[in-house]
Amino acid sequence: MRRPLVAGNWKMNGSRADNSKLVEALVAGDPGADGAEVLLCPPFVYLWEVGRLIRESSLALSGQDLCAAASGAHTGEVSGAMLRDVGCRYVIVGHSERRSLYGEDDQAVARKYVAAQREGLVPILCVGESLAEREAGHTEAVVLRQLQAVLEVAGAASFAAAVLAYEPVWAIGTGKNATPDQAQQVHALLRARMAREDAIMAASLRILYGGSVKAANAHELFSMPDVDGGLVGGASLNVEEFLAICRAAG
Ligand code: 13P
Repeated sequence: MRRPLVAGNWKMNGSRADNSKLVEALVAGDPGADGAEVLLCPPFVYLWEVGRLIRESSLALSGQDLCAAASGAHTGEVSGAMLRDVGCRYVIVGHSERRSLYGEDDQAVARKYVAAQREGLVPILCVGESLAEREAGHTEAVVLRQLQAVLEVAGAASFAAAVLAYEPVWAIGTGKNATPDQAQQVHALLRARMAREDAIMAASLRILYGGSVKAANAHELFSMPDVDGGLVGGASLNVEEFLAICRAAG
């Protein structure tokens, strides 16, 4: 009922030469062949060119971030309309690196979520706790608070056109993924929270797991009932790894 989704978040990696090699090999490997929807999230400056490279494929394009404002005096920023203009269908909002390195609080993330939908983009809303928060037993409170900020501004109905991603900060780029049970526990909590708002929407909401997903752990993570795919960082830069992850999701 929920189509699996895998998004490759390249973060601040790549070059025109590297990208064309990577994307040509990915397209040849047809990562969507087993049924998963597959997105590439390159840095802004490469979106247009990557979009051209995947034009004849089943791959789709996503931004990594956007500006909450629609246009105007925001030097250095990129709007949702611009992302649409270069072919994006999705955009990540509230990635933990945006929250921790660039000071985006829950309210700023909620504004970006609203801006994405205003421009017709599907936001991939990231939530997740830090190691200290997990060790203090605050995981549930943190992810529910992050979600609540968006619910308050955008409303539950908006999630019919959104994707959620659980990305525990301690698992990002560390090689230490959440266990399938740990992931499932938080995914089930998020879905139950959404079901309190609207059971039908919650049942169709895709919730991705992110944090050290690789070919070796993708299958068992994606086998969990409430894990609908992955938001993949490092492993999305490796053709064989990423193709295997997409196959595991399909
Ligand atoms: P890694 O897969 O490199 O841990 O990154 C996860 C992530 O942050 C994807 O958005």
